[in-house]
Amino acid sequence: MAEHVKIIFEDKTYKFPVVVGSEGERAIDISKLRRNTGLVTLDPGFANTGSCSSSITFMNGEKGILRYRGIPIEQLAEHSTFPETAYLLINGALPTRKELNHFSVMLNDQSLVHEDMRIFFQNFPRHSHPMGILSSMVNALRSFYPERHIIEEEINLIVIHLLSKVRTLSAMSYKISRGHRVVYPRHDFSYCANFLNMMFDNPVKPYQIDKEVVDALNVFWILHADHEQNCSTSAVRVVGSGRVNLYAAISAGIAALWGPLHGGANQAVIEMLYDIAKNGNNVARVVERAKDKKDPFRLMGFGHRVYKTYDPRAKIMKKMCDKVLSKLNTSDPLLDIAKELEETALNDNYFIEHNLYPNVDFYSGIILRAIGIPTNMFTVMFAIGRLPGWIAQWKESVDDPNWRISRPRQIYIGSPETKYIPIDER
Ligand code: ACO
Repeated sequence: MAEHVKIIFEDKTYKFPVVVGSEGERAIDISKLRRNTGLVTLDPGFANTGSCSSSITFMNGEKGILRYRGIPIEQLAEHSTFPETAYLLINGALPTRKELNHFSVMLNDQSLVHEDMRIFFQNFPRHSHPMGILSSMVNALRSFYPERHIIEEEINLIVIHLLSKVRTLSAMSYKISRGHRVVYPRHDFSYCANFLNMMFDNPVKPYQIDKEVVDALNVFWILHADHEQNCSTSAVRVVGSGRVNLYAAISAGIAALWGPLHGGANQAVIEMLYDIAKNGNNVARVVERAKDKKDPFRLMGFGHRVYKTYDPRAKIMKKMCDKVLSKLNTSDPLLDIAKELEETALNDNYFIEHNLYPNVDFYSGIILRAIGIPTNMFTVMFAIGRLPGWIAQWKESVDDPNWRISRPRQIYIGSPETKYIPIDER
């Protein structure tokens, strides 16, 4: 007989089935809990709640495993490119050469954005954060490229629009923020090379494409491409569950990613490392602050809801830092501080007891700095990388036969019924 869990409530016993995933993970299916018992569950931060079944990404936080469609992240980082990994996530299998060529041609063909979108950029206040701009621009894409019918070909085109145009919009926003001429995408460049050229080419000093930098960017984006039901992906699924268009759902994901406890941590890590450098490299003091419960400060780039061991992406990222800096024949004092900080924290009882290890964001900023990305664009870089994951998760949720609009319950703790008092009697 299939496993089940018994709940005894008010002297009655209720049975709920246990669902087993393909890697042996188990969950209690409580979809009939309220109907049968009148109870709901209370789970702040959804730390014990599986919101869906998914066949996209598998992670095991105790063993430090991450796989996209079954393929270990280490193998993808070593052998794949970002467009190929995006194809894998979105379509469920690695592409053949012909399929990948077609996908790449489509990404190139759809890389231009409507010239009128430039007017938006010019009207954002000078110091607007690029994540706020990107979220608004992606929502605006729907007005410039409305779908006619929700059929598969249309969805596929929107997917290509997002992957290609978000890259163009991001580079455009950087150029415009600096008051520089916008650089158009080129047909003869790969996805990553095209982005770098749009960011850094200028009439005075044409950008030289460097294979090492292109490879580093491919790996950076592959490592960020999906991470199952994290904060921004859940935002995409929840917003998408109301059957909103894909642009709007992705725009919600970008807004969710912006926060410093999520994707914004890559910017926060560099700011923290800068501060340490500015204040005399006192790493021990920063670790003490992070442990002090009266101080809201946390060690940025450390800790994770799921990983209770070293984040496998952080391992690859750390190795990449050394590789990229040595290939570019440069050094970064922040990398030395980061390594010292990691060593101090990993040998500290508080961090050991709390299972706090570096996450993907701890070393990613060092790589971005090495390839010339300004700090306030770091989270935008994360967003471009996370697009395939958001898209794949949105598609999966739309096709899910068990789909229901996301609508959690609550336990109300406010006032009991209270009489309205007219304003003059208060
Ligand atoms: N520094 C110091 N203490 C920490 C840290 C940290 N970075 N992270 C967690 N803790 C402590 C908490 O104070 C808490 O301690 P307590 O049990 O003694 O009260 C315990 O570890 C558990 O922390 P929670 O906040 O409950 O863990 P949660 O799973 O809710 O949060 C999060 C995970 C948000 C990532 C957290 O570790 C954090 O704030 N890290 C810093 C920000 C960061 O790097 N975010 C990027 C995450 S990866 C990503 O989103 C791409």
